[in-house]
Amino acid sequence: MMTLSLQRAKCSIRLLCSQALKSTNYTENIKSYDEVPGPKPIPILGNTWRLFPVIGQYEVGDVAKISQIFHEEYGEITRLSGLIGRPDLLFVYNADEIERMYRQEGPTPFRPSMPCLVRYKGVERKKFFGELAGVVGVHGEPWKEFRTRVQKPVLQPQTVRKYVGPIETVTKDFITRIEKIKNSEGELPADFDNEIHKWALECIGLVALDVRLGCLADNLTPDSEPLKIISAAKFALRNIAELELKAPYWRYFPTPLWSRYVKNMDYFVEISVNELDLSLVERILANEKDPKIAYILALDLILVGIDTISMAVCSILYQLATRSEEQEKIFKELEKIIPDPSVPLTTKHLDQAIYTKAFIREVFRVYSTVIGNGRTLQHDTVICGYHIPKGVQVVFPTLVTGQMEEWVDDAKTFKPERWLKENSDKKLHPFASLPYGHGARMCLGRRFADLEMQVLLAKLIRNYKLEYHHKPLKYKVTFMYAPDGDLKFKLIKR
Ligand code: HEM
Repeated sequence: MMTLSLQRAKCSIRLLCSQALKSTNYTENIKSYDEVPGPKPIPILGNTWRLFPVIGQYEVGDVAKISQIFHEEYGEITRLSGLIGRPDLLFVYNADEIERMYRQEGPTPFRPSMPCLVRYKGVERKKFFGELAGVVGVHGEPWKEFRTRVQKPVLQPQTVRKYVGPIETVTKDFITRIEKIKNSEGELPADFDNEIHKWALECIGLVALDVRLGCLADNLTPDSEPLKIISAAKFALRNIAELELKAPYWRYFPTPLWSRYVKNMDYFVEISVNELDLSLVERILANEKDPKIAYILALDLILVGIDTISMAVCSILYQLATRSEEQEKIFKELEKIIPDPSVPLTTKHLDQAIYTKAFIREVFRVYSTVIGNGRTLQHDTVICGYHIPKGVQVVFPTLVTGQMEEWVDDAKTFKPERWLKENSDKKLHPFASLPYGHGARMCLGRRFADLEMQVLLAKLIRNYKLEYHHKPLKYKVTFMYAPDGDLKFKLIKR
């Protein structure tokens, strides 16, 4: 029988580790930092102008394209320097080097994203957050202390297993809602992505706050709590590129966008504190004496746990709807595992959904929802034969590296089978495609994210055929990488 590739990944790791150590032998003729290729900054405006409308050649929303262009123009490493108010960005496309850096990152990896949140938690609302401000936008020892206190209970499989039932209940309600909103031809409305966001918030509300927020009720008004939380989560994540790359002036004075950002984050704090009764998080952290840890963890989970998973689901459903052959394989697999679709889902069912999981994994390789990860260098390092000084922000563009022939066999073909054990002899570098990051700072919600996606597919594809009959959609980055346009899927009951 086919088994998904945990072992496959381990095999590849073993195989490639030894190769990695050999191939990164850059100790001779180390070149200087100034020799790293990349677009040259111009006096005064540096490189930030490249992101300005009209005069610049790059759109902030096109960061996915930018990182592809950099690779095509400059090779395995590219330096983007001269950005206003921020350190240089260094894009690394060599999976061996990415592996080496992740493995050497030490106990307190520094992920540079969301400096606005660093400022919000550490300066603007320092009084509320205190010394242990959570994991998102927190660094060094305070991050390590917080993560150590929450990591084990949040990531252990037993905790997540308990949520199969609750997530299934939410998902059934979601399908009931789908039944109501599809038109007479079985087609979903243009703003179906909003419905996915509601499902995601209902799931995370249950996980982080242990409440049913009522997101899937009919006729929610824009000022209803669920819709306000969703737009706050979207605002918080989707303005980061704008605040960080294009208009970082908030570092010097409070710009209107910055003031909105602060107000928006205040709303999150309010939700976490007010909604949190005896929450799951509190129960997970049964041995935790400080109740604030639970509030802050809930806040972090809601903040990053809505838009990420929603956009991932938009992408997975679009790929399913446009790949009928693969969808049929998933259906057949689910039909075999769950002959009676009215039987409650268990982890045993999900464990057997090997091809379904491989499909999700392949969507992440080719259309990684988070296009890249990053680390701020804690000390001077040699990367790809160049001396890179401490403080530089290294970007690992997983969307690009996951599709490079150098690291993945037949990289341009969408092939879920590549993740199955029987194909473990094929090249698939374990650090080329890392949708959840890696190491001590890896995604804290990944087990919940996997569970939510698997339950959704198990319920939806077991019971419906999904089709899409409109113009093909292009992918775009609005912080997340996802199809840009109306998700007017057609659902046909099986
Ligand atoms: C498919 C959806 C998701 C994707 C692709 C994703 C991806 C990521 C990535 C790439 C990181 C950075 C990891 C690193 O630096 O190595 C991250 C961090 C994080 N994610 Fe997720 N994520 C997803 C869903 C979620 C969900 C649903 C939650 C909450 C329940 C969540 C909570 C977090 C948190 C709290 C962090 C920060 C961890 C830290 O800095 O210690 N994520 N995620």
